Amino acid sequence: MRILTGIQPSGIPHIGNYFGMLQPTVELQKEGEVFVFIADYHSLTTSPDPKDLRERVINVALDILASGLDPEKTVFYRQSDLPQVCELTWILNCLTTVGLLERAHSYKDKIAKGFVPNNGLLSYPVLMASDILLFNANVVPVGKDQKQHLEITRDIAIRFNNIYGEILTVPEERIKDATAVVPGVDGQKMSKSYNNTIPLFGTQKAIRKTVMNIVTDCKGLEDPKDPENCNVVTLYKLFADEAQVRDMEEKYRAGNYGYGHAKQALFEAMWEYFEPFRKRREELAANMDYVHQVLKNGKEKAGEIADQTMTKVRKAVGLR
Ligand code: ADP
Ligand code: TRP
Repeated sequence: MRILTGIQPSGIPHIGNYFGMLQPTVELQKEGEVFVFIADYHSLTTSPDPKDLRERVINVALDILASGLDPEKTVFYRQSDLPQVCELTWILNCLTTVGLLERAHSYKDKIAKGFVPNNGLLSYPVLMASDILLFNANVVPVGKDQKQHLEITRDIAIRFNNIYGEILTVPEERIKDATAVVPGVDGQKMSKSYNNTIPLFGTQKAIRKTVMNIVTDCKGLEDPKDPENCNVVTLYKLFADEAQVRDMEEKYRAGNYGYGHAKQALFEAMWEYFEPFRKRREELAANMDYVHQVLKNGKEKAGEIADQTMTKVRKAVGLR
């Protein structure tokens, strides 16, 4: 089984990225051949500053490696190290109707927010399809927001195979129910573009401050509270065991337990959970040659497979 996923270097990775995509991918390292990449071509759709983009790629690489990705088991690379991705994108663009792309939720959301779309933003799902189809991936671990992009990928693969023969593997998304949509501090989906994230890494002070800013209702300290509809409890469930969650839920119902107390418990559980990650990240940051070497090895291994697919694809469509 081949497993593949990517993350855009469009900001600082957050706990939604971790539980929605990184942790499931790390677990899948036991089950198959894993490919993970930093989607820097995708980031260009929102025109980042070049210096910022370069720095973010390195920081995302550190965050991902510190989160448990094992370069001995996983091919880890930078998307832009593989120009084959762009070549396949062009070929697949010519098989994809504009109507299909105009129906993509992420595209419609950006337009609704007043973003003036460039052509790259419209064809974003085709670039994503290329990432996946270039490697004949079977399984793609992602959060729920990417479900439609996987549907588009399948549509494109099936269309290609119908016209040119069975060359591309039709992939499936793998979405973990419990962590499909991790809420942000404002209760919406946590996302780098909504400014509502709790970063995976940061200073104790900054992360505590973010946790303390989680939006709740305005019940007073003495009032009984509803644990079913509270962001703090939802996030606590990611870090605490069943007994700890039950304990917090009982305290909510009993009253005399403030949101400040719950947030402090959440912060402590979260800080402890990521302690080994922080240690690993510090070690990696002190050994950047190793990080660059991992990405270089990834480029070589991924490049060989990409070349094999492109040879078949070029031949099938009538190119050289
Ligand atoms: P963002 O929305 O913050 O820009 P990305 O689009 O880079 O995040 O997402 C990278 C991966 O993390 C994708 O698989 C995405 O589905 C997953 N992901 C992002 N936010 C969440 C979330 N709040 N809950 C679950 N998974 C998420
Ligand atoms: N679109 C994904 C996101 O924003 C990132 C991504 C790009 C991706 N290419 C991919 C994810 C291929 C899985 C597979 O989260």
